[in-house]
Amino acid sequence: MESTAPFTAWVDYFTRNGVRQERIEATVDWNAPCTLPPDARAAIARSLQRFELGESGEGTHLLGLAERAGDPAYVDAVRLLIAEEQRHSALFGRGLRHLMAPSLPGHWTDRSFTLLRRSLGLDTEIALFLVAETVALDWFEALAASPDPVLAGIGRRIVADEREHIRFQIDRLHLDLRRRSAVARLGIAVVWSTVAVGAATVLVVGHAEAMRACGSRPAAVWTRGLHTFARSARTVLTGPVGRVLGPSVVRPDLVGPLPRIDTVVR
Ligand SMILES: [Fe+2]
Ligand SMILES: [Fe+2]
Repeated sequence: MESTAPFTAWVDYFTRNGVRQERIEATVDWNAPCTLPPDARAAIARSLQRFELGESGEGTHLLGLAERAGDPAYVDAVRLLIAEEQRHSALFGRGLRHLMAPSLPGHWTDRSFTLLRRSLGLDTEIALFLVAETVALDWFEALAASPDPVLAGIGRRIVADEREHIRFQIDRLHLDLRRRSAVARLGIAVVWSTVAVGAATVLVVGHAEAMRACGSRPAAVWTRGLHTFARSARTVLTGPVGRVLGPSVVRPDLVGPLPRIDTVVR
């Protein structure tokens, strides 16, 4: 796909994606009892509590920045993306009720991330979004492989969305950053990678017990998350000028509950 205004395809994708989300959710037996041992339940609950908070924002600041970018299709796509993130928060809440755990009123990682983002421009905010989504993707994949069917369903549902979110953020950043000079892009790569290493470390340290409870090694989540970040950043900064990824699933409403999406970045 080659275009200077790629976001109408994204609006179309996000608009249709609700059908796929419902199909995935219909495969989950939401009333299945939780059979995990108490320590595993507690560890996973602590992780879901933070994600429930982190994805609950109304995105007012991000939408304001998107409006200034001057592309109405992009604004519509961001609005639909924020709605998907809020549904992720609701899914994490559903997981907490399944684990019989409460929601959190607030957490320092969420407050710091929100404060940091408020002081930034669109590209920097999206760059941070991309860091958060790439380093966490492998943890959601571990959740999708959890022995608990409800948690696994939540993981499958979120992974299917997040893989597309990563492509969406790449398209915006590529459009804005790829034309900068080689020196500027090198500087961006250095700072961005440092932030990604820090974010992956905070994630893995904070959620290590939950990762182990789902049968995943925290060090492997750290490595794979940073690998996904590196591939995404490379596509943004060095991919062919004007190249647009677009959604990997053009008609998500026609795709079954477990779509084949083998790569985040092609
Ligand atoms: Fe999300
Ligand atoms: Fe996302």
